[in-house]
Amino acid sequence: MRPHGSVAREENMSNKPSSPSTPHGVLAIRTLAMPANTNTGGNIFGGWLLSQMDVAGGITAAEFARGRVATVAINAMEFHCPVLVGDVLSCHVDIVKVGRTSLKTHVEAWVKRLREGHVEEIKVTEGDFVFVALNAKGEKRVISQE
Ligand SMILES: CC(C)(COP(=O)(O)OP(=O)(O)OC[C@H]1O[C@@H](n2cnc3c(N)ncnc32)[C@H](O)[C@@H]1OP(=O)(O)O)[C@@H](O)C(=O)NCCC(=O)NCCS
Repeated sequence: MRPHGSVAREENMSNKPSSPSTPHGVLAIRTLAMPANTNTGGNIFGGWLLSQMDVAGGITAAEFARGRVATVAINAMEFHCPVLVGDVLSCHVDIVKVGRTSLKTHVEAWVKRLREGHVEEIKVTEGDFVFVALNAKGEKRVISQE
């Protein structure tokens, strides 16, 4: 398998886990939580967060598979803390398993909260996103491991 920073996670499963205060995985996207993305409670809508994580996992999976991918499953989603308007959201992606046509990624969403000279970094959400590599016809295709 060709080198890829995030693939190391599967190989390193017996190594010590990442610190709970440090994002694990490769940074795939950063964006700003805007008022348009709020729910009726005034916090950021979970569906928006999930879609950012899906995009982040999809970018990483497509780069690895060198082509188009589709999300086939989203598992083990955990929403740890609310996201607030103004938070800077980062999604970090780890490829944990490469199959014949699919890739399993673990995506962590972290926020950087900047308030009056203080910076807080909080893991807000994580989950497993599975992608399938597709050919031009939208059919599954074998992922090259070279
Ligand atoms: C992706 C798609 C082409 C796969 O076709 P399929 O014939 O159902 O594929 P299979 O059942 O053979 O599964 C393909 C791979 O995905 C994996 N997979 C399928 N369902 C899965 C699930 N629920 N959880 C984990 N892996 C799953 C299989 O294990 C297989 O992996 P492998 O080849 O690495 O062993 C088809 O399911 C599809 O088009 N789904 C809709 C995708 C979509 O629209 N996503 C949302 C927008 S991106």
